[in-house]
Amino acid sequence: MYNEIDLDRMDPSLDPPAEEPERQYYFMARCREWVLAFQQDHGRPPRACIQTFGCQMNARDSEKLLGILSQTGFEETDREEADLVLYNTCTVRDNANQKVYGRLGRLSVLKRKNPHMIIALCGCMMQERQAVEKIRKSYPFVDIIFGTHNIFKLAELLYDRLCRQQMVVDIWDGTKAVVEELPTQRKFPFKSGVNIMFGCNNFCSYCIVPYVRGRERSREPEEILAEIRRLVADGVVEVMLLGQNVNSYGKNLARPMTFAQLLRQVNEIPGLARIRFMTSHPKDLSVDLIEAMKDCQKVCRHLHLPIQSGSSRILEQMNRRYTKEGYLALVDRIRQAMPDISLTTDIIVGFPGETEEDFQETLDVVRRVRYDSAFTFLYSKRTGTPAAAMAAQVPEDVAKDRFDRLLALVQQTAGQVCGRDTGTVGKVLVECPDDHQDGYVTGRLSNNTTVHFPGTVELVGKLVDVYLEESRGFYYMGRLVKEP
Ligand code: 5AD
Ligand code: SF4
Repeated sequence: MYNEIDLDRMDPSLDPPAEEPERQYYFMARCREWVLAFQQDHGRPPRACIQTFGCQMNARDSEKLLGILSQTGFEETDREEADLVLYNTCTVRDNANQKVYGRLGRLSVLKRKNPHMIIALCGCMMQERQAVEKIRKSYPFVDIIFGTHNIFKLAELLYDRLCRQQMVVDIWDGTKAVVEELPTQRKFPFKSGVNIMFGCNNFCSYCIVPYVRGRERSREPEEILAEIRRLVADGVVEVMLLGQNVNSYGKNLARPMTFAQLLRQVNEIPGLARIRFMTSHPKDLSVDLIEAMKDCQKVCRHLHLPIQSGSSRILEQMNRRYTKEGYLALVDRIRQAMPDISLTTDIIVGFPGETEEDFQETLDVVRRVRYDSAFTFLYSKRTGTPAAAMAAQVPEDVAKDRFDRLLALVQQTAGQVCGRDTGTVGKVLVECPDDHQDGYVTGRLSNNTTVHFPGTVELVGKLVDVYLEESRGFYYMGRLVKEP
C-alpha cells in the first residue's frame, strides 16, 4: 500500500484532532477497533466491495477509498456478498444513475440476508439533490451517503454510522481543500493515476460535471512531483495525469504555471518510463503543450481530444468555444509535430437542435481526422444544465439512427488506421495475463493500442520489445523480441 499510515501512534481514547489528515488517521484507528472486534466474533476480517462507475477520476478515487478501508483492516472482495458495499457513482449520463438504482434493488435482497451489511454511496451522483432525496425515500436501507468533495472522510463517516443506527448523509457543495497524505491501494502495482486538478470551469451546456465536481482547483506542482517520485519508488513506471481539463492546469495557483511546464518537470523524474494525461479541452491546447509533448520522450504518443460535435453551430450551442475549422487546424498542428500520434475523441449525437446537416459535419470530421478510436454517446438530458432547457430536443429514434451510423463509420476508419504499425517492433508495457488465451499476456503500446503476445505472468509491469505481427482491427497479435 502507498502512503501507509502507522495507526498505532493514534490514541483513540483522546478527542479527534481538528486538523486533516490527522483527524482521519484518528477515525481509521477507531474503525480498526471495530474491525478487530468483528474479527474476534466472526473468525475473519470484514470484507469490503467497492464498485466504481464512470471515469478515470472515479477509478483513482476508489483507490483512495480502498486505501482507507484496507488501512483499517477490511479485506477487499469483488463480490457484493460483503460486509461493506460502496458504490462510487457517476452521473454524466442518465443511464449511469439508472444503473445505480437497479443495483441498489439487488443489494436490498442481499441486505435482507445479512442485515449487518453496510451500504455506502459516494461520487458524482450523490452531488445531485434529487438523487439523494430519492435514495432517502425509496432506498432507506442505504447507510452512508457522501459526495465528491469529502471522499477523504470515509473513515469518519463509517465510524459515525457504527456509533448510531441511522443513515449518515454528508454532502458538501464545494471545497478549496485538497487533503493529501491518505493511504491508497492501487489496482495496478506498475501504473497509477495522479490527480493534478479537480473540478471544471467550462460549463459545456450539456454537462453536469461542473455542478457535481465544483470549480477548478490545481494541486501544487511540488505535491504532484513528490507523489510521482514516491510512486516510482513504489514500483510505478507509468502515470496518468488526471483532470477534467488538464490544459488549464496551474492557472489558479498562487504561483501560476502551465500544463506544458508541469509535463516537462514530470518528464525529468528518474525511473518513470511513461506519462499519459486525460482530458484535454481543444480550446486550451497550446502550441507550448504540443512542443512539450514532442520534446518529452516519456510522454506517450496518444492524445484524447474530445470534439463532441463537428458542427460549428452546435459547438457554439454546446459552449465549447472552438469551431470545426479551429479543431481541424489544431489536429494538423499536432500531426505535423508528431506524425505517429494516435488521436481519440468523444462525440455526442442528438444534442438539442442537431439537424441532419449538423450530423453530417460530425461524420466529416471523423472521416478527416481518422481517429484511432472514439467514444460515442447519445445525448442525455441532465437537469440543471442549460441544454436541458433548450427547445427542439431530438427525437429518440432519430438520435439512435445517427448514433448507429456514427458508430459504423468510427469502426470503419479506426479499423483502417489502428494497424498502421504492423510489421514493426514496438515497446509494450505488459499489463496482465491475456483474458482469452492461456500462455499469452496483454499490454499497451505508447499510442495506447493493445497488443497480445505469448508470455508469462512474470512480464507483467515490464516494458518489452514486441514485434507487431498481425493487426486484428483494434489490437495486435505480436511476439516478444527481447526479454527485458
Ligand atoms: N450526454 C451525453 N454525453 C455526455 N458527455 C458529457 N455530458 C453528456 C451528456 N449530457 C460525454 C462527453 C464527455 C464525456 C466524458 O461524456 O462526450 O466528453
Ligand atoms: Fe464537462 Fe465540458 Fe468540463 Fe468536460 S470540459 S467536464 S465536457 S463541462
